[in-house]
Amino acid sequence: MQAGVLSHASRQVFTTMRASRILLGATVVVSVVLLSVAYLDGWFRVSSAVTRAPARTRFLFSAGLEGRTADRTQDTEVGTAAGSGGSRTQEDHNAEKIQRDRKVVLERVCNVSLPGSVPPLSARQLGHIIVDDKHKMLYCFVPKVACTNWKRIMIKLRHPEIEKPQDISPQDAHVTYFLPSLKLYSQEEIQYRLDNYFKFMFVRDPLERLLSAYINKFTMPYNLKFHRLYGTKIISRFRENPSKDSLQKGDDVTFTEFVQYLLDPMAHGPQLNEHWDHYANLCHPCRIHYDVIGKYETLDQDVDHVLQRAGVANIVQFPPKPKKSQTSTSQLLDEYLDEIGPKEVFRLHNMYILDYLMFNYSLPNFPGEG
Ligand SMILES: *[C@@H]1O[C@H](CO)[C@@H](O)[C@H](O)[C@H]1NC(C)=O
Ligand SMILES: *[C@@H]1O[C@H](CO)[C@@H](O)[C@H](O)[C@H]1NC(C)=O
Repeated sequence: MQAGVLSHASRQVFTTMRASRILLGATVVVSVVLLSVAYLDGWFRVSSAVTRAPARTRFLFSAGLEGRTADRTQDTEVGTAAGSGGSRTQEDHNAEKIQRDRKVVLERVCNVSLPGSVPPLSARQLGHIIVDDKHKMLYCFVPKVACTNWKRIMIKLRHPEIEKPQDISPQDAHVTYFLPSLKLYSQEEIQYRLDNYFKFMFVRDPLERLLSAYINKFTMPYNLKFHRLYGTKIISRFRENPSKDSLQKGDDVTFTEFVQYLLDPMAHGPQLNEHWDHYANLCHPCRIHYDVIGKYETLDQDVDHVLQRAGVANIVQFPPKPKKSQTSTSQLLDEYLDEIGPKEVFRLHNMYILDYLMFNYSLPNFPGEG
């Protein structure tokens, strides 16, 4: 079966229906949440981001809130399981509980944002899932979320003769030839792997990822391809009186201009570049039940957990972290967001709202309300 046909149709459906589904879904959730939450003390522990959210968006947070309520029931279940188990270490146990919690939140957001049928995997999504048949692993890569190192790991697993993953250059790590994706398999083979292999993906705070993409793609002199492909377009569209040089090279896009571009569907068209596209569009976590959803914010623990669960912890080691730069991306983000104005920040959060909700990232204070 041709995955390309599916992909096109499903993407269209997904895009056009998403907005209305969120609204519809959220209305359903509001009633469910109001009924269930009102009877629980959780009602009084709504996070500050929720209470500060403008009334219009407040209902959207219900899905996350509902997730938190469910945590409490899960806690008790875990407690009893721990009593009877015993052989597992506390660390494994905590990691598994964290994973269960993350999956509950994700599933609830999936349930409300895509009620009814979940679209099939598109060719693009299949192309994002790296396959290791020997170790029975599937890794859905998200650029700007430790993806180079994970690709190095996946290459090293296929090539035992490579001593250390960090011996693979970043350029080589991204050569698709070294890493087969699910796209290369038949429909039956794909399904078999989805059903039987260990599956994982990594996410991080949506706007920190966005800023990281901006800094890497638009402020680094070596990323000529992005300057030509996107930079020139962004400058000619959004800059008043651009210089000839900027128009030609596209190498001095400001963060504000980049954000204007993101917020203008006419400018970027139906498909965003993978470096700033939504997690759901890249990895389809509502369809694929990932065994581990790792977070950049807890990279060390989550890397250990993935390698353990995949049974390859004694074969590979994740490359060590580079020395920390002085300012973290989250500090930088505050500075950059100051620059772009409250209305745009708000629209940006709205644009990535599903990424926030699916992976339980808290929305920062709303501009003008903090
Ligand atoms: C979601 O995030 C909040 C705030 O960071 C945290 O307190 C809560 O435990 C998280 N919930 C889950 C299910 O991970
Ligand atoms: C999501 O929906 C499915 C099917 O209706 C249901 O079985 C599941 O419990 C729901 N999950 C959550 C976390 O609400």
